[in-house]
Amino acid sequence: MPPLDSRDVMDAFIVHGGRSLCGRVEVGGAKNSALKLVGAALLAEGTSTLENIPDIADMEAMAAVLEHLGARVDRSRVATYAVDVPAEIGLSTPPELVRRLRASIVVLGPVLARGGRARVAMPGGCNLGSRNIDMHLSALAQMGAEITYGPDFIQAVAPRLRGARVELHYASVGATENIMLAAVTAEGITTIVNAAREPEIADLAGFLTAMGADIRGAGTPEITIRGVPGLSPASYRVVGDRIEAGTYAVAAAITGGTVQVCGVDADHLRLPLEKLRAAGAEVEELAGGVRVTGPDVLHAVDVVTLPFPGFPTDLQPQLLVLLSQAQGTSMLTENVFDGRFSIVSELTRLGAEIDVEHHHAIVRGPRRLRGAAVRAMDLRAGASLVLAGLVADGVTLVTDPHHIDRGYSDYAGRLRTLGADVTRAALDRPTAGVA
Ligand code: EPU
Repeated sequence: MPPLDSRDVMDAFIVHGGRSLCGRVEVGGAKNSALKLVGAALLAEGTSTLENIPDIADMEAMAAVLEHLGARVDRSRVATYAVDVPAEIGLSTPPELVRRLRASIVVLGPVLARGGRARVAMPGGCNLGSRNIDMHLSALAQMGAEITYGPDFIQAVAPRLRGARVELHYASVGATENIMLAAVTAEGITTIVNAAREPEIADLAGFLTAMGADIRGAGTPEITIRGVPGLSPASYRVVGDRIEAGTYAVAAAITGGTVQVCGVDADHLRLPLEKLRAAGAEVEELAGGVRVTGPDVLHAVDVVTLPFPGFPTDLQPQLLVLLSQAQGTSMLTENVFDGRFSIVSELTRLGAEIDVEHHHAIVRGPRRLRGAAVRAMDLRAGASLVLAGLVADGVTLVTDPHHIDRGYSDYAGRLRTLGADVTRAALDRPTAGVA
């Protein structure tokens, strides 16, 4: 054995499989809304208060981006950010933070709107294949911004943005948000055609409206924004995280347990819940939540990811785990990100039978999973590998857990309250590679 101080240490989730999950779990505010609302706070001088902020690494990174821009983010109250924005904000974002956090691209719209100029590093985030921002930039250009590209940054200059009719060729969440953020104080009317309809878009519109913006149609394919001269700080509560909720719902379904997930609007999970029912789970919609009971036998179902109200790509890897345990052959088609099957090689190592052809995954089940060391390649893949560990024989180690920390608050602890045997620990890294 090598001397202690020369050993390499790695962090991992350690999952002992075989337990049914039962009980109640409360999800936090939606990561993919909270990140944007914090960015939106930049639009008004003064203190905006955002409640139901999830305790996740991505929020820490976003707070650091805002602080770099000159805002003060008071996190002394639980799940609350009080964002104090000065009269003049910084105009450029720090590359090291932006590369870690793709959502930081949303500061482009507000910074440009406030300062007439913005320079942002090329965004990072989960590695899900090609993740373009061409629609964000062409929309801002249509609104009068002059866009220039540096080696690793983008600069936009527009002393005064003006409204425009922007037709998106794809209902991009991020582009819709950036256009909304730029348009609320632009001169004239902006219309977004083929806008994204995710619940997080309506949430952003809700906060911006509370700040004094004039927005119609958020949540529909056409959003109309009448620019106003300025916004005021506001208080707002972030919508519940439908993806975190869906992850616990899948945990109940695959382990044959019963889990009540609170803090989410079941309407935001319409299609995932339908798929869980089709797979044999019992699903009860409650006020502010949902109760899911897993069946003795799961059945194969076909799933196609699409922008909302379609099946969310952010629940696709969790569904792959479920389908690996379902009787029959399922086909799961990924239409949103071209790099979102990274979990497949790891799930196969655990014993799943999945063939990927282009953007289709053919899953044959049920296959008995056996615990092994696997790697979280991205946020949702990592969370889903932990789910796989819940139904695997023996012990599953999920390494690179920092990906999971980006979007799940105390994932191991919450699963433990449901009866799972999951811990988070620092381990000695085996010298000859993981099992
Ligand atoms: N796209 C373009 N050009 C653009 C913008 C997007 O080609 O200008 C493409 C992307 O390359 C991608 C697709 O359109 O293939 C979808 O991108 P979209 O803009 O809709 O997604 P996003 O804003 O980058 C957000 C979430 C993702 C979630 C997607 C889809 C945040 C921070 N991220 O990403 O969340 O999967 O919407 O719902 O809000 C996650 O939480 O795990 C996650 C990846």
